[in-house]
Amino acid sequence: MNNADNDRSVVALVPAAGRGVRLGANAPKAFVEVGGTPMVRLAVDGLIASGAVDRIIVMVPPESVESAVALLSHSAVRDIVRIVVGGAERTDSVRAGIAAAPEASYYLVHDAARALTPPGLIADVVAQLRAGHPAVVPALPVVDTVKSVDALGTVTGTPDRATLRAIQTPQGFEAGLLRTAYAADVHATDDAGLVELLGAPVRTIAGDPLAFKITTRLDLMLAETILSRHAAERPEIVRTS
Ligand code: C5P
Repeated sequence: MNNADNDRSVVALVPAAGRGVRLGANAPKAFVEVGGTPMVRLAVDGLIASGAVDRIIVMVPPESVESAVALLSHSAVRDIVRIVVGGAERTDSVRAGIAAAPEASYYLVHDAARALTPPGLIADVVAQLRAGHPAVVPALPVVDTVKSVDALGTVTGTPDRATLRAIQTPQGFEAGLLRTAYAADVHATDDAGLVELLGAPVRTIAGDPLAFKITTRLDLMLAETILSRHAAERPEIVRTS
């Protein structure tokens, strides 16, 4: 990395303000434990382990600020993590994160719920950003056939599966591009979708099945099993300190 690269800081924005309704947990989703460690802590430790991130902003529900501070004050992260209050929708949470880190050259938006994301995938996204791609997202082939339906549930179309990809996080962006995308009153399920509306090219790189989003009880069981079976072989996906 040359000096110019060093000057271009990478700030990770971690949306962790979801309510976790689909998970059926009492706590906000990002604070639900996987193998004894809250998801948000696993996600932040993965970002640190990537060695590719300079600062981390974690967006949490207002009532969870104190517990987030306690959870993310260990030595490995204390100096680079900041907790801010998220919003009613994911886009509101990301907007709050952008406002808290105006100095960034690149933003990585990374769901806390993708708690087992391999650090190598995070580093890959940053490498592609630094290589000059303004927007970079991890993508996996779709295994099921996907159909569109109308309000009554009648099928209206079947897109060619070969052209479809399931998109994960971290999603990486040139900071100015993401700020422009968020300047308007917008709503989307992923950040690349907003950048696409601006006409910017979005590059896909190979995603990783371990970067799946823990959304349902079944996902949580899968994550617990992966952590317990692979902690020895994949120490980078368990807590760092
Ligand atoms: O709801 P969904 O599964 O798409 O949430 C993805 C991520 O966005 C989760 O990490 C969740 O905590 C976060 N989120 C947020 N603010 C919201 C809703 C979701 O930070 N209002």
